[in-house]
Parts: sequence; C-alpha cells; structure tokens
Amino acid sequence: MNVALGIGGGIAAYKAAELARALIERGFTVQPVMTAAAEEFVRPLTFAALTGRKVITSLFSAGSPEETLSSAIEHIRVAQENHIFVIAPATADLIGRLAHGLADDFLTTMYLAFTGPVLLAPAMNTNMWNHPATQENLRILRARGHMIIDPGEGELACGMVGPGRLAEPELIANAVASLRNRPPLRRDLEGEVVLITAGPTQEPLDAVRYISNRSSGKMGYAIASAAVARGARVILISGPVSVPEPGGVETVHVKTALEMRKAVIDRMEEATIIVKAAAVADYHRSDPPKQKVKKTAARLSLELDPTPDILAEVGRKKGDRLLVGFAAETENLAEEARRKLDSKHCDMIVGNLVSQEDSGFESDNNEVLLVLRTGETIPVSRAPKTEIAQRILDEVLRVRLALHATT
Ligand SMILES: Cc1cc2nc3c(=O)[nH]c(=O)nc-3n(C[C@H](O)[C@H](O)[C@H](O)COP(=O)(O)O)c2cc1C
Repeated sequence: MNVALGIGGGIAAYKAAELARALIERGFTVQPVMTAAAEEFVRPLTFAALTGRKVITSLFSAGSPEETLSSAIEHIRVAQENHIFVIAPATADLIGRLAHGLADDFLTTMYLAFTGPVLLAPAMNTNMWNHPATQENLRILRARGHMIIDPGEGELACGMVGPGRLAEPELIANAVASLRNRPPLRRDLEGEVVLITAGPTQEPLDAVRYISNRSSGKMGYAIASAAVARGARVILISGPVSVPEPGGVETVHVKTALEMRKAVIDRMEEATIIVKAAAVADYHRSDPPKQKVKKTAARLSLELDPTPDILAEVGRKKGDRLLVGFAAETENLAEEARRKLDSKHCDMIVGNLVSQEDSGFESDNNEVLLVLRTGETIPVSRAPKTEIAQRILDEVLRVRLALHATT
C-alpha cells in the first residue's frame, strides 16, 4: 500500500525521516513530497535514500517543455497512486492553506486531487498552535474528516513549554497503519442522530468553589467530529472543557450532573445512537450555600449526596437506540466493564484504564477495551483519540448489524 508523506517546513522536518522509516517497516511504500520551506530544514536526499523514491519538491519543473508537461500532470498521478496522505510536520501555514483549498505548490495541489484518507501531524510554537486562526483552520480540517494527530506538550525548540511538539513518529505510523483497510470518506452514519456527552461536570460547594474531575472532553469531542464527518447529525452535550468545539455539531453546554441529566433526557428522543463519554460526578452537594464559605481554623467536613445515574436511566428508556457507556477504572477493567454493560443495559462499554501514563484522562491518546453486547471483548491498543473514536463508531455499527441479525 502506498503512502504519500508530505513534509512541511518546520524544525520537526527531520523527524519525518524517522516516520518514513517507521512506515516502511510497516510495509508501506512511501512517496515523499516536500514543500520549498521543508527543503530549508532537511535535504531531499535524506528522504530519497530512505524511501528509494524521487522526492517531489516543486510543481513546475525547471527543465525542458516535455519535463514541464510531465511534472504538471504529476500531482494528479501521485494523488491517484497513493492510498493514504500523511503530512508531518504540518506547519501552521500548511494547515491554513489546506483548510482554505489553496493550491500554490505541489503538496497543496496534490491534496486537492487526493480522495483518500488524510492525516495531519501538526508541529509548531505554542503560540502559533493556540492562535485562533490555527485552531479555526484545524476545526475546518477535522470537520472535513481528516485525522489530526495532536502535538504533544513539552519544551519546544524555541524554548517555550507547551503544546506544539510533533507527535512521536511511531504513533503517527500506527495511526496510518490503522487506516489501511478503511475506505475513503465513509458516510456510513448518514441518517443517524448521535447524541454524545463529553467532559467533566462541576458540582458547586459554595458560591465560588466546586468539585470536578480531570476529564478533558477530548474523547467525546473526537467521537463528535468523527460522527459528523461520517454523515451523522450530532448533538454534543458538554461539560466545561477547553478543547475547541467541533464544526457542524450542535453543542449544548452544561455544568452540573443535574443539568447534564436534564439535557440528555430532553434530547435523547431525537437520537438513534447515544454515546455517554462524559465523566459525570458521582456525588454533589445538594444545597450549596449561596455565599462563599469563610475560612476558619476549624476542620471542615463535607456531606455529599449521590447524583442521579444518567446512564442507568437512559438504559431503561432507550428503546431500540444503541447505547454506549464509558467505564473509567483503575483496576479490574474487563470485569467492571462487563458488569456495567449488563446492569445499565448498554450495547457497548468503552473501558478506559485511567491509571496508565499518557492514556485516558487529559491525554491525546487512549488505550481501551471495547466490551460488546454480542459477548465480544476487543482490546484497542494505544492510538490517538481521533482514531479510537473511529473504531468505536465502527464497532457500534457492527453491534447493530449483529443484534438485528439475531432478532
Ligand atoms: C527556524 C524556523 C523554524 C520554524 N519552525 C516552524 C514550525 O515548527 N512550525 C511551523 O508551523 N512553522 C515553522 N516555521 C515557519 C515556516 O517555516 C513558514 O511558515 C513556512 O512558510 C512554512 O512553509 P510550508 O508550510 O510550505 O512548509 C519556522 C521557520 C523558521 C525560520
């Protein structure tokens, strides 16, 4: 299978060499395509030596008229010959040009001629990453169905600390490999209404304080983006998060478990698939004081009451809707997930081992166990949440087919 590897002009361009090698190790044939800026960072010879391919660097050949003609058609040929297009590092500039359909060099022209799955692994300075222009462009690309492999956090070449570092080449190569058998631009959720809950809840303790948890909302938001890209109408009921809202989604913002319950019960009638990825508080303070509680030297005890079990209530009322619950556990994941599947009348539980580093809460990656109503238990190895989201939706559709076949 052929992969076009687009390389943008950033400090991380040298890591694309590692990625090329990781892709070749996974059995791909790799065609490197470099922007002019990328050539300033790494010489094309590096990629030619690694891949055994002529590296494509420009749209217009400087040679004879015949050569010019053949290179003019080359972007179409390369677009047709390759099955997956991965761009790493994707610069802020490339992200902008791709989002808006500009085609002023080989890489961006080929992108418009390409119909298969596209992955982008951005890398840039933290301020460039956080800039609303970059985030808006990423939103457009996500809504178009492209897989964005979010950058990691850490110290960057510019000395800043924050998000912007290219994801590990091995992780990017795994994400490419996971697309191997995926048909391009699936619209297999057309006609479906997917209700997704995401993020934490905040339960007030007094006028200014609350208890919450470390859920980032990234998993639920990734499922929302994936479902929209696959043709669904999506209602996203979200607790307070800082991840950008996915394009093309109707988002209902809530804060507390009680607000989350009301929104879910109000809107579940419309849904054909319900995915409860939110980390809803199990306990809250029923009647928090309206004022700020004053600090004293005395010890303070809090009395908390259980919040309503939304998943169980939805499970009782779901009818023939498909219901996916999440189980965040620190131990006995498989048993707990199966127990939850049965007791809450779910069709799938996404089991999440939250004790692992760089997996689960807050992370861009996840490693999950899918426990299905069909009796199957499917481990999904560590991958970007965008990829896990696609896999969850694949399995939801498969469970429905299996359930229909047995009724
Ligand atoms: C030393 C240096 C490092 C750079 N690193 C990055 C980077 O990591 N990410 C990025 O988006 N832009 C980076 N830039 C800016 C890009 O090179 C610039 O926007 C260029 O136009 C990108 O071209 P391209 O998108 O066609 O590859 C850097 C520029 C310089 C001079």
